[in-house]
Amino acid sequence: ELPRTLDSSKEFTSKYKEEELLGEGGYSQVYAGECRSTSTPVAIKHIPKKDVRFARVNCQGNVYHEILEVFLMEQAAGRLCDGSFENPAVIGLVDTFELETEVIIVMERPPDTVDGHDYMFKVKHVPEDQVKIIFKQIINAALLMHKNGVFHRDLKLENLLVDRNKGTPEIRVIDFGCGDFVENEPFREFNGTPDFAPPEVYCKETYRAEATTVWQIGVMLYMICTRDSFETLKYIEQDNKVLGNVSKKCNDFLSRCLAFYPSQRPTLEDLLLHPWLEERANTALSAPVVVPICSSLPDKIGVHRQPGVCMHSAFSKGGIKFF
Ligand SMILES: Nc1ncnc2c1ncn2[C@@H]1O[C@H](COP(=O)(O)OP(=O)(O)OP(=O)(O)O)[C@@H](O)[C@H]1O
Ligand SMILES: [Mg+2]
Repeated sequence: ELPRTLDSSKEFTSKYKEEELLGEGGYSQVYAGECRSTSTPVAIKHIPKKDVRFARVNCQGNVYHEILEVFLMEQAAGRLCDGSFENPAVIGLVDTFELETEVIIVMERPPDTVDGHDYMFKVKHVPEDQVKIIFKQIINAALLMHKNGVFHRDLKLENLLVDRNKGTPEIRVIDFGCGDFVENEPFREFNGTPDFAPPEVYCKETYRAEATTVWQIGVMLYMICTRDSFETLKYIEQDNKVLGNVSKKCNDFLSRCLAFYPSQRPTLEDLLLHPWLEERANTALSAPVVVPICSSLPDKIGVHRQPGVCMHSAFSKGGIKFF
């Protein structure tokens, strides 16, 4: 084993140049980098081997022994199995390296992108129309992921990238580190960000993929509208959940996503048809959903980043997943 991992380490440094740290989570560090031969920008994620989940997956007769996070990312993008739906909103995989003590995942790094958290809370004023465009993209991307059998389980602003290079912003989904296959539902142990977990994670024995994703979409929008942090346990205790600074339609959208009972939440397909997402936004009359936030705001107003927590014990049961 060792000589091969040493080779991999050399191969990695000969192929990629590493630059500044882009982000750090509970289990990994992500650096900006560049492919030496083509100068293509890449993002390089280092995960300690002990925290990597592997899976043996049978996909149409091909058996993959893969880093689960990588497999889920590729499957979510529709790149693995015939009949999958192409989902370009999922970030592209470039390379993987398995070294002695860590795994390295090399991904696309679209130039001039920021993560959704910085885009919404630091970078600039985001008008309601753009928020709608972004949420339509998020729902579409989530719908295709679910159709491809993948449950991200940690959808939040930090796990989205926003490409500002295009005329309209374009989102990309990253970080499948807490994900699983939809077919493994109902789920029992929660992997993801506890503050954003749906109420059934706290109150019931089990939770399901789509209702959780819809809840997490509601959480993201609620945070953008309130410019505040979010905690499920606080939210469900709150008497008045109607926001005064956003339109009726937006409040309706929020209350449906954040319905206490998962059975009362819309499906992702229903959500795409919600009137709030309609093209003709009455921005002149309704208050903007998002108000400007400058990076000079004091910390207590800023929304704090919530680390994702992966409870790896949840995966020690099987480890083998089949489509
Ligand atoms: N492909 C990419 N391009 C640009 N920036 C990225 C990319 N991937 C990650 N980042 C940045 O790095 C941060 C951390 O990445 P990621 O979410 O994958 O890891 P993590 O949260 O540390 O993972 P985990 O929750 O598994 O510990 C992101 O929030 C984002 O700011
Ligand atoms: Mg993350």
